[in-house]
Amino acid sequence: MLAEIALWLATPASRMARRLGLVSESVALWARGRRQRKAWAGHHGRCRALIAEVVAELPHRRGVAVLGSGLLRDIPLALLRERFERVLLVDAVHLPQIRLAATFRPDVTLVTRDLSGIMDWLGGERDGRVDPVADLVADETLDLVISANLMSQLGWPVEDWLEDNAGPSSVLPPDLPARCIAWHRDDLARFGCRVVLLTDVETVERDRAGTVHDRFDLMRGAALPPHDEGWDWQVVPFGEVEADRETVHSVRAWRDFGTACRQLPEADR
Ligand SMILES: C[S@@+](CC[C@H](N)C(=O)[O-])C[C@H]1O[C@@H](n2cnc3c(N)ncnc32)[C@H](O)[C@@H]1O
Repeated sequence: MLAEIALWLATPASRMARRLGLVSESVALWARGRRQRKAWAGHHGRCRALIAEVVAELPHRRGVAVLGSGLLRDIPLALLRERFERVLLVDAVHLPQIRLAATFRPDVTLVTRDLSGIMDWLGGERDGRVDPVADLVADETLDLVISANLMSQLGWPVEDWLEDNAGPSSVLPPDLPARCIAWHRDDLARFGCRVVLLTDVETVERDRAGTVHDRFDLMRGAALPPHDEGWDWQVVPFGEVEADRETVHSVRAWRDFGTACRQLPEADR
């Protein structure tokens, strides 16, 4: 607990990232990931292996950008550093251990950024969304973009914010959480380079007999093209929160998300 408080205090982040609970969530994820190292290993291994396979297929390897880099548990950083000239790690929150890992590695750049593009809008400092990836889309030296288990995370902080700030929120679109997911999908589809998307799309709460007690669409209705691979991620194993309940997320992976998106019907884009 003391380590978590110290991490929370030592993590630089914007006022809105803190108010939206992203620093607390990053610290909580760090702690839960340490407790659940075994249960999460399969998920992280699948993510890393898929990225390694895509990297091996690329004809050019100048720059790579990881969106939602966080703790890098799903990212083979050593491999990316070995194969690419430049690695950009993009997240709203970089915990001190990641900052330390990037120090003295001139090929690794940390970019602190709100990838929903709406934090200033929520904070009343702007009337509408900013394009969070404009400079990255324009960067012709990027040969790979990886969205790393970020997409599903773009909705809930906004949902909580709308609930907790009913007054100021009355002028905001009520479907903002769903829009954030769809905007990220559309942002990824704009890149000219290869794009890998890794995201959990559904959460299911079950008891030991396998009875489903709760189910939630983490994509909030956003249409996605057919995926290449899928697996389960036991996010909350039995005993982590309740003795007789587990929470399992369905993860989906796209090896070439841009091409897959172009096959979506126009009405779904
Ligand atoms: C489930 S974690 C995955 C992190 C990392 N890929 C890993 O597995 O270690 C989701 C990440 O998305 C980041 N995130 C959530 N909302 C964000 C936003 N609006 N802008 C940028 N990053 C955000 C969080 O800070 C967190 O690092």
